[in-house]
Amino acid sequence: MDGGLLVALSCLLIIITYAWMKFVKTGPVFKNDLEIDGKTVLITGGSYGIGKETALQLAKRKARVIIASRNEQRASEAIFDIKSQSGNDMVHYMKLDLSDFADVRRFVRNFIDTEPRLDILINNAGVAVPGMTNDGNDIILATNQLGPFLLTNLLIPLLKSSSDSQHVRIVNVSADLYTIGKIDFGNINLGLTKESPYQQIIQQYSNTKLMNVYFTTELNKRLRSEDPENSSISTYALHPGVIASELGTGAIHNTLMKVGHLILKACFMRPLFYGCQTILYCCLQKGLKEKSGGYFSNMRMRQLKAVATDSETGLKLWKVCEQMTGLTKEEDYFAKSD
Ligand SMILES: NC(=O)c1ccc[n+]([C@@H]2O[C@H](COP(=O)([O-])OP(=O)(O)OC[C@H]3O[C@@H](n4cnc5c(N)ncnc54)[C@H](OP(=O)(O)O)[C@@H]3O)[C@@H](O)[C@H]2O)c1
Repeated sequence: MDGGLLVALSCLLIIITYAWMKFVKTGPVFKNDLEIDGKTVLITGGSYGIGKETALQLAKRKARVIIASRNEQRASEAIFDIKSQSGNDMVHYMKLDLSDFADVRRFVRNFIDTEPRLDILINNAGVAVPGMTNDGNDIILATNQLGPFLLTNLLIPLLKSSSDSQHVRIVNVSADLYTIGKIDFGNINLGLTKESPYQQIIQQYSNTKLMNVYFTTELNKRLRSEDPENSSISTYALHPGVIASELGTGAIHNTLMKVGHLILKACFMRPLFYGCQTILYCCLQKGLKEKSGGYFSNMRMRQLKAVATDSETGLKLWKVCEQMTGLTKEEDYFAKSD
């Protein structure tokens, strides 16, 4: 091979590697080191994956961080790591299973009894593994949409009473897969099983991520209608990036898919550190109030695709979530403030 060709090929390789590292394996970083001591953050699913990295970054900024998830052992290990890496001792665990609405209610009672304030609620926990809950709901729907809907509604009074601070925000971790989501109100509770094709699992996951976007816009409307000045609670939905976490791995059973997933993870998914950057941005960036209700990715607000902009769907979804979670008039902050 002649010397000129070798130099050209080497340059091409360097450019491809640089572009791959810059655009695929890494991403923008939230550079604001703002300290938020005195603020309490509740993060669902903070025990591993993107949530654990987010909890660590918030602990480093001196927040009081409450991690809520199902597996106590994994959460204790996460808390040990976060405390040792951040030097912040105010990191705690509270058990929560979002797919069980009685447990969400128990959790909120306990939270309100023990925590005097809540400044940032991060609805991060999510699953892409099929199954049914004890209440007979699709576990993906219950975990990703219904549980966070109930949790958020029950915590609004506490968020409201903490809104002397400029950081009172509800951050909903959705996904760009919302764009292929569909909401079929006649068949919302799919009830997938381990035998269901992987495509159906991804479809139901995407459906719930579309619901997260509608939930955020509808929640924002309700918050704004009783507070037009937008002086207290803001809410945002976001895509964290394509991140090398454990999401969906429980649904992969055959060896070929496992190997394929490992290759995808190594080549195309960003490390967890990058997965929390847009979450941190939505939690902490100043001047975001007028963007409440918006959808973000790579730390920028994005225009929603048409599939997520039908306001009748947003309202109908809200009613269906009320009914499926059994949200009562007494529990419903917005019904009381009407
Ligand atoms: N990874 C990606 O590429 C990607 C892309 C777009 C969007 N997202 C979104 O990012 C969020 C975080 O995902 P991840 O990738 O970090 O997933 P992950 O690694 O699987 O972590 C999921 C977390 O959620 C918790 N969790 C699961 N079911 C729960 C339940 N019923 N109640 C309470 N906590 C529960 C888990 O803890 P326990 O098992 O102990 O409960 C764990 O802490 C999800 O909403 C996901 O949809 C991820």
